[in-house]
Amino acid sequence: MTSSKYVHQGSFALRAKILHFTGQPDPLKKSGYQYFADGVLVVENGLIKQVQSSEYMAERGFDLTQCEHFPEHLIMPGFIDSHIHYPQTNVIASYGEQLMDWLNQYTFPAELKFSDKTFALEAAEQFIQLMLENGTTTAMVYTTVFAQSTDAFFETAEKYGLRMIAGKVLMDRNAPAGLLDTVESARQDSQNLIDKWHGQDRLSYALTPRFAPTSTAEQLSMVGELYKANPSVYMQTHLSENTQEMELIKQLFPQAKDYLDVYDQNNLLGERSVFGHGIHLSDDEVQRLAHTKSQIAFCPTSNMFLGSGLLDLARLEKAGVTVSVATDIGGGTSFSLLKTLAEAYKILQLQGQSLHPLKALYMATLGNAKALLLDDKIGNFEIGKEADFTLITLSPSKIQKSRQLQASTLEETLFALMMLGDEHNIERTYSMGNMVYNRLACASDD
Ligand code: GUN
Ligand code: ZN
Repeated sequence: MTSSKYVHQGSFALRAKILHFTGQPDPLKKSGYQYFADGVLVVENGLIKQVQSSEYMAERGFDLTQCEHFPEHLIMPGFIDSHIHYPQTNVIASYGEQLMDWLNQYTFPAELKFSDKTFALEAAEQFIQLMLENGTTTAMVYTTVFAQSTDAFFETAEKYGLRMIAGKVLMDRNAPAGLLDTVESARQDSQNLIDKWHGQDRLSYALTPRFAPTSTAEQLSMVGELYKANPSVYMQTHLSENTQEMELIKQLFPQAKDYLDVYDQNNLLGERSVFGHGIHLSDDEVQRLAHTKSQIAFCPTSNMFLGSGLLDLARLEKAGVTVSVATDIGGGTSFSLLKTLAEAYKILQLQGQSLHPLKALYMATLGNAKALLLDDKIGNFEIGKEADFTLITLSPSKIQKSRQLQASTLEETLFALMMLGDEHNIERTYSMGNMVYNRLACASDD
């Protein structure tokens, strides 16, 4: 249950361009999405009450003057980020290393600071503000090994009434001593956090073994037991991101058939399992992911920044693997899902593939909601869904303004937005009908 203090009470209406998705978009058939060049979005008690063209509303007696009117802006559902690390906000743009050295040199030292609850609360606040400034209303979040850092994240998300999934990182080897837990403390902490947060307001829990190199087989096996005992929680981890990491897996788990098999042997696969990256997978692994409905979080800016490799999206989709999109801050270089989609486009271009803007924006909204099994609550403007959305300006800069003037179709407008857009395009962000970010109000902070 969502408590009413997080829900905007009463009703209001915004008039703008409106885009949302009703299924996988088909650009040729023009299906799977609704676009209103002049639309009205009505919100009542934090939920979507109506989405229609202004003309339709006016014809039925709706008084358009009661709307706040943004003729040049676009309203879209809030963006969803399926893989992000909240302690890594200030690890972003750390120079020169690939995954394993980057973890040791920059990331683990940054995560050590989260043993301090006050520090963790301040970091959670900064992180959530950054997401909201980027139009992101829901994310699947790694915290740190410290249970109090997970509390800090959930407390902050709850304060804003956000729909969030998060979990305490589990690591019992191959990390600095100060960041290690044990099989038993990991079990206790995870179960306590599930009992405390899972299903509380709009929050859900994800079991979070960081990745196989930092957990013993015993710890992974314990996570499998918790997953079975708590069937409505999620599981998140990393998979086949980097070739050095994969060599380490062969040394640490010589009996495993492949990387995915390490997780499979411990009963960690399934439709609630989100594997970050999955760049270097064998055909067997791809089949196994598809068969178990396990999914991959595609993290384009991170994969480019850490030199990890190019995700073959067409291959995964052809095999029937669900793929969501994610920033992977701080391996990733931007909180913006728009920027993330632009990098995804380039990664696919390098492989002779493409990414249509309708598909890209579908992935960042309804597609990610479906992947995270939240599409009965968020992801589009179906009547009755939670009113999480963002108000986007199409022309925050000279180049976007002049490029948008050339755009003659919706597709062109959206493509320019996705290729050139970032946090400067986000004017406002709403959660359950509450305005949780307003660029104008923050203008002096820039
Ligand atoms: N693999 C294990 N931990 C991490 C992490 O924090 N970031 C990324 N990108 N990959 C990882
Ligand atoms: Zn990650």
